[in-house]
Amino acid sequence: MTLRILPQNLINQIAAGEVVERPASAIKELVENAIDAGATQITVELKDGGKEYISVTDNGCGMTKDELPLAIERHATSKLAEGDLMAIQTMGFRGEALPSLGAVSRMTLTSKTESADIAWRLKIEGGDKQDLEPASLNVGTRIEIQDLFFATPARLKFMKSNATELNHARDLLERLAMARPHIGFRLKNNDKELFDYAACEGDAQIAYQMRLKQILGKEFFDNTIWVDAEREDYHIQGYVGLPTYSRSNASKQFFFINGRHVKDKVLFSAIKGAYHDLIAHDRAPVVVLYLTIPMREVDVNVHPAKTEVRFIDPSLLRSFIVSSIKHALVDRGQFTAPSLSDQAMDMFKMPERQRSYQAPLSTGRGQQIEETPLGFSQPSYSAQPAPVVTFTNPAPSSEEYKLGRAQAQLYKTFILSETKDSVILVDQHAAHERLEYEKFKNLLAAQGIRKQTLLIPQMVEVTAVEIALIKQHLDAFARLALVLEIYGDTTIVIREVPGVLAKANTEELLKDILDQLREEGNDLSLENKILEIFATRACHGSVRAGQTLSIDEMNALLREMEQTIHSSQCNHGRPTYVELKKKDIERLFSRS
Ligand SMILES: Nc1ncnc2c1ncn2[C@@H]1O[C@H](COP(=O)(O)OP(=O)(O)OP(=O)(O)O)[C@@H](O)[C@H]1O
Ligand SMILES: [Mg+2]
Repeated sequence: MTLRILPQNLINQIAAGEVVERPASAIKELVENAIDAGATQITVELKDGGKEYISVTDNGCGMTKDELPLAIERHATSKLAEGDLMAIQTMGFRGEALPSLGAVSRMTLTSKTESADIAWRLKIEGGDKQDLEPASLNVGTRIEIQDLFFATPARLKFMKSNATELNHARDLLERLAMARPHIGFRLKNNDKELFDYAACEGDAQIAYQMRLKQILGKEFFDNTIWVDAEREDYHIQGYVGLPTYSRSNASKQFFFINGRHVKDKVLFSAIKGAYHDLIAHDRAPVVVLYLTIPMREVDVNVHPAKTEVRFIDPSLLRSFIVSSIKHALVDRGQFTAPSLSDQAMDMFKMPERQRSYQAPLSTGRGQQIEETPLGFSQPSYSAQPAPVVTFTNPAPSSEEYKLGRAQAQLYKTFILSETKDSVILVDQHAAHERLEYEKFKNLLAAQGIRKQTLLIPQMVEVTAVEIALIKQHLDAFARLALVLEIYGDTTIVIREVPGVLAKANTEELLKDILDQLREEGNDLSLENKILEIFATRACHGSVRAGQTLSIDEMNALLREMEQTIHSSQCNHGRPTYVELKKKDIERLFSRS
């Protein structure tokens, strides 16, 4: 075996392997360079999702004739001025992206600075640098990449279909665009424009709002709450979703740390913590959070692609995020009924015609229906089933309640209530469940958790890894009244449990807790688990669907909801009530 230093080009190809996984990662490096160059407009043009051709054009500061050859030298960077890795202000700092890209593709750099008369162009093919030549371009830079990975056939094979690669590129650019609303972003593929987000003006909140509207649309704003909180040098801004607006996974959770999109388990787990009793376990809220934290508190030099970071004090950051979101949700959560989606409105607008109307003019195919000039079918009252609505006449009151006055109970399941400007439908079971749950939580806060000693201590078999986990959390368990003892290498003994859990299956409970601890790695999940048991209990004592309620009982429930935090969704994140505005009702009848 001969020990030798690798040729430069091979070093660059290896470095490219770390950073450039697919066209989208090449685009990421080029666009980040454009951002660092102070561009206010960035245009990305692709062929075949970037597999064939990528060009990124910016109106940033540009490079001089002398700088161009340097830019493709390894470890040449104009950034990191202080030479301090803990004070990184720019997206790039490694001086590796361009030489890496140049080693695995055919790359052309064209650039012009403000003071230069003409632009200059430099080509590099599979690492071979060619001569500089004059070119024409406005102030800024265009970098083109043809035949990505032609020089590294193994990587070439890993590229997916054009559509898949284009999706990756689009997702990536949307994240960059969310991070930098003051920059205009444009994406084209095979000469077709996919988006053109104009640069947004104004302060951070206004610019974020505009950009997110461009990308995520109106529905996002109808179902999210603005968060803005500061603690010492930490600042959080962004939008957090109502618990009723959830997804099956965390793919709609976006985090930006100091202008950089990051994926990080501390952040994902903070979101779980903030929503833990507002949303079902298998659902994930939608969030877009912009965090500004001191440079020294975060290390971005963790992974070559810079999507991972390390926090100096993750628990401080976590508690800051959790409390900021919880506050925002409490402040607004009580009275933020999800507005009826357009889809639900359409259901109102298009009654099932055949059933509601025996059309006398119907043809053999039953298609033709006599319509009013408004385009709606005339309702037929003769075909009504037996009444399912219990009407009552509440005494009129001058007092205005947020959730209005109960008017009727529908299907023994929903409370129909009228406010000054809307009609509200409350799911009596979901609402009551929430109220009971919040009561339990208050009780817990006031009294603490009472211990109960098991008459016969319970032995539970676990794995060696779980023993290690339990050891680590013994104190936390004890604080929550779960007293465990380690007994041998794979056995533990449960001696005391919280009183409320005395009847629960302790072994199952413990296994669940261990699963969660492994997943989230913090003591909060234990508390979650116990609160969840409360939730289940609360659920059992709740008013059921199918139970007749008097008008007074209904009003009492409404008044209690108004006094209770998070009363607009049940413990599983389903809404407890929906609201139909009077003006929408008027719209349904074409009155406005
Ligand atoms: N679009 C651009 N406009 C102006 N200068 C650029 C542009 N792209 C690259 N450069 C110059 O080329 C240098 C090398 O870019 P490269 O991406 O390889 O390294 P970097 O951005 O410094 O660090 P990293 O490897 O972390 O991205 C940059 O430091 C910058 O000076
Ligand atoms: Mg760079």
